[in-house]
Amino acid sequence: MLTAGLILMEDPPAHDVHDLMTELLEAELVDDTGVTRRLSNDEVLTYVMLLAGAGNETTTRLIGWTGKLLGEHPDQRREVAADRSLVPGAIEEVLRYEASSPVQARVTSRPVEHHGQSLPEGTIMVLLNGSANRDERHFVDADRFDVHRDIDHHQSFGYGLHFCLGAALARLEGRVALDEVLNRFPDWEVDWDGAKQAHTPNVRGWERLPVVAG
Ligand code: HEM
Repeated sequence: MLTAGLILMEDPPAHDVHDLMTELLEAELVDDTGVTRRLSNDEVLTYVMLLAGAGNETTTRLIGWTGKLLGEHPDQRREVAADRSLVPGAIEEVLRYEASSPVQARVTSRPVEHHGQSLPEGTIMVLLNGSANRDERHFVDADRFDVHRDIDHHQSFGYGLHFCLGAALARLEGRVALDEVLNRFPDWEVDWDGAKQAHTPNVRGWERLPVVAG
């Protein structure tokens, strides 16, 4: 368990470090009873757990999808290997084409209307952002994987208030991973006999995706 060895102090010593953890420990908020206070230990630890889960599993899946898609499109992989300026666009297209977090959930906090449908307060909604990434009204020939695609914005990191906090880091990790793999193995094929999809409630990708380097 991540929290096992982590003990938070009631009043952490002041130090001149400005990172997310320090911000969490030092933040003051007015809670829903009107009291100004710091986050409780449980609240900080819950957020740390969220970060650890949100930041690890998703990027691992992104790298798996990159291996699969560029394994299936050797011509595009060779183009990217020869011209690394294509790496960011390739990662963006992998993100669009195979959303590793393809479903989000919401509960309406007030009555709303969407596409002519009225929804009362308290309605549970499932948002299919992975499907929106293949919407033909927004992406021409949406089911085609194309590292040259000009993507203004996809839905893989969500949208609006809860837009992914780690999107920039995730993109960077994907780009570095692809660049480094291409340095070592510009050619590969997926070994489908050894591949296994991961089964989790909300994240989609590969538990194992062995490849044979060319
Ligand atoms: C390919 C990698 C990633 C994908 C596909 C992804 C996807 C998403 C999506 C779809 C959401 C919105 C959830 C919603 O609307 O309910 C989200 C939120 C979030 N993500 Fe990511 N994420 C990735 C990487 C990361 C990384 C690396 C971090 C942190 C190190 C991170 C931290 C978070 C956090 C904290 C939120 C909640 C933001 C909020 O509710 O305000 N994610 N992510």
